[in-house]
Amino acid sequence: MKHAAPAPLSAPKSGPLKGRVRVPGDKSISHRALMLGALATGKTRITGLLEAEDVIDTAKAVTALGAPATKIGDVWEVLGRGTGGLAEPEKPLDFGNSGTGTRLMMGVLAPHDITVTMTGDASLSRRPMGRVLGPLKQMGLEVEGDKDKLPLTIRGTSSLVPMVYELPVPSAQVKSAVLLAGIGTAGETTVIEREATRDHTERMLRYFGASVRTEVVDGKTRITVTGNAELEGRDVVVPADPSSAAFLIAAALIVPGSDVTLEGVLVNPTRTGLYTTLKEMGADITFLNEREEGGEPVADIRARSSKLRGVNVPAERAPSMIDEYPMLAVLAGFAEGTTRMDGLAELKVKESDRLAATAAGLVANGVRTEAEGDTLTVFGSGAVAGGGTVATHLDHRIAMAFLTMGLASEKPVTVDDTAMIATSFPEFRSLMERLGAKYVG
Ligand code: S3P
Repeated sequence: MKHAAPAPLSAPKSGPLKGRVRVPGDKSISHRALMLGALATGKTRITGLLEAEDVIDTAKAVTALGAPATKIGDVWEVLGRGTGGLAEPEKPLDFGNSGTGTRLMMGVLAPHDITVTMTGDASLSRRPMGRVLGPLKQMGLEVEGDKDKLPLTIRGTSSLVPMVYELPVPSAQVKSAVLLAGIGTAGETTVIEREATRDHTERMLRYFGASVRTEVVDGKTRITVTGNAELEGRDVVVPADPSSAAFLIAAALIVPGSDVTLEGVLVNPTRTGLYTTLKEMGADITFLNEREEGGEPVADIRARSSKLRGVNVPAERAPSMIDEYPMLAVLAGFAEGTTRMDGLAELKVKESDRLAATAAGLVANGVRTEAEGDTLTVFGSGAVAGGGTVATHLDHRIAMAFLTMGLASEKPVTVDDTAMIATSFPEFRSLMERLGAKYVG
């Protein structure tokens, strides 16, 4: 167990937050760069890779599969094995807390004639894997004991059959797993999605030389990859993670007198639902110096303290801000009026049941909140009492959202554990403190 002793922390009221910082690399893009690097021929050089536990677990996994990932100076290098070229690892692969690492890797492994055991921590071992294993089994993957939770052992085959798969849930992880399996399968594999989910796999596959076709038919997007693709090692630049930036931006909005700029943040439209919502709430947020880096749109984001008002967040926006709801719900507590967030079924199967954990944290800090079905409603009064202790349930984003809340609530907010923050954003505390916040613990 990596995280033995819980490490509680308190966030007291902060003075104004000021400064210009860059948060670490995007987690989704970091996982993908390592995996595509492993499947490509030659060397992939990754600048700005997120060095957090989730991604390091993926780096260790590709290394154990015969595609060594090592840091040389500031750059991570992966020596790829070519499509279908990964080797059977000697030991089980441990994915720690990472659903993305696990699920995408299932797709990567499926077209290989190897047997692999995959393990994870208590949170990951509770999460549903059937959503990825279902389509992969239809393609020919075998799962020992037909399990759908970790730990599990899968056996791939170099003779997978291609398929057309319509996503039953809006999940980029499921989409990516099927597309990555399709890359090692003869013929064309198609994924159909009703709601747009993050498209980093498609973008990066193209960048590595694969043929990826996207077309809209009857309002649904069909993404088709041509199999047995030859991927070529590339240089990848990872932009700053908008899901990590969200906490610093949120802090700037609620702490009076703040003015903060986040540099080089990924602003791919499949990831910016939070920013759209914040602008509707009256947030003073500006995208500056918009540009393209490494095939992805990026911008510097400036946020200044703002008076927020409650809004309705439509269900169809959920995929573009799925990881940002805990932070948004906390902000809604500081807003005047009611914020209603619909279509949150997927929040229940994240690192924790985030719908329940967020609602409980808000209530513990004096914010009237209702969680009913797939809807979360926060009755904002313009101020938050605080003073509560939040149960984080091995969930990094619950910890960070409530450590942000305490910076502007009347009384300090305490979280029961901070160890999991290292899975996605180890620099969270130091960057917040560089802006002027102080934590106690
Ligand atoms: C991710 C997809 C999302 C997101 C996760 C990262 C990805 O999960 O919550 O943090 O990198 O593809 P789902 O695909 O399960 O919605």
